[in-house]
Amino acid sequence: MNPIVERINAALNQAEADLSAASTPAMVEEVRVALLGRKGLFTSLTKDMGAAAPEERRVIGQAFNTGRNRVQELLAAAEERINSAEEKAHALDVTLPGRKWHAGHKHPVTMMIDDCVAAFRRMGFVVADGPELETVHHCFDALNTPADHPSRDVGDTFYFEDGRLLRTQTSTVQIRTMEAHEPPVRIVAPGRCFRRDTPDATHSMNFHQLEGLYIDKNVSMADLKSVLQNFAWELFGKDVSIRLRPHFFPFTEPSVEYDFTCIMCGGKGCNVCKHSGYIEIAGAGMVDPNVLRNVGYDPEIWSGFAFGFGLERLTMLRHRIGDIRNLYENDVRFLAQFN
Ligand code: DAH
Repeated sequence: MNPIVERINAALNQAEADLSAASTPAMVEEVRVALLGRKGLFTSLTKDMGAAAPEERRVIGQAFNTGRNRVQELLAAAEERINSAEEKAHALDVTLPGRKWHAGHKHPVTMMIDDCVAAFRRMGFVVADGPELETVHHCFDALNTPADHPSRDVGDTFYFEDGRLLRTQTSTVQIRTMEAHEPPVRIVAPGRCFRRDTPDATHSMNFHQLEGLYIDKNVSMADLKSVLQNFAWELFGKDVSIRLRPHFFPFTEPSVEYDFTCIMCGGKGCNVCKHSGYIEIAGAGMVDPNVLRNVGYDPEIWSGFAFGFGLERLTMLRHRIGDIRNLYENDVRFLAQFN
């Protein structure tokens, strides 16, 4: 083989090896200078070609042209390989400031549920649960609710075609618990309730209640009052006292509504308590003997109290929230305030 052609082939092999091993642009550039540079191999070959015999020139010229094209291809390929590797490496720029991660937190209503449950657990209550989709039996009949009671109305309660309903109160859990367990019973049941209310600043079609039930021997109204008073202290501090007012509920006799002294003004009177010094919290009473009979408890042996309150209302008081709808809009700008 012609010695010039041999040199071209040897240089190509070398270039191929060097370029596939190259890992930086500078290493590629070194190969380019060695072959195509002003003092590179191909430049010097043009001088040697002049000295070759005329009949050899065609073969040499061909090897020269394909050789040089091949070198250019190899250089371009190596460059591209190195650039894309660099791009990938730069995707992680360790000099950039770190991205801030925002940890989420519980919804203010959930925090209220947790705090209420914790307060009642310290008083010996355990958490009970029941379904949101309920029977008329658990929501009304067993709770001693008369057939013509307005809460049963289709205008107030969501019914399904099969006669079941979305529970309007967590009092259903009283019945479910007593049907499943022998007394004594000491439970609280937080959960979601539903009513056909038109949404406004204080009403929502779905909301949360917490129900309490205490059944034992010799339970009195004094026990009810002390549990509610203790709950008020646990939630809002030692300055809060409570007041019971006579009321009516089908499932308790006697029934009361209970108030906390206003947590804003301490009872002196302000806008929040409408200058009465008290804020209405919920309903309570001594469990009606009919309810005990409905679940197979003997009212001559067992007695007890029950209470229930809305969790949104307490949450709104705690955080001075003016509109219940804020709690359901899932606007993070609003919710993030309560972290
Ligand atoms: N279930 C009642 C309501 O939704 C609240 C209530 C009142 C619950 C008296 C009770 C109770 O357990 O004894 O308005």
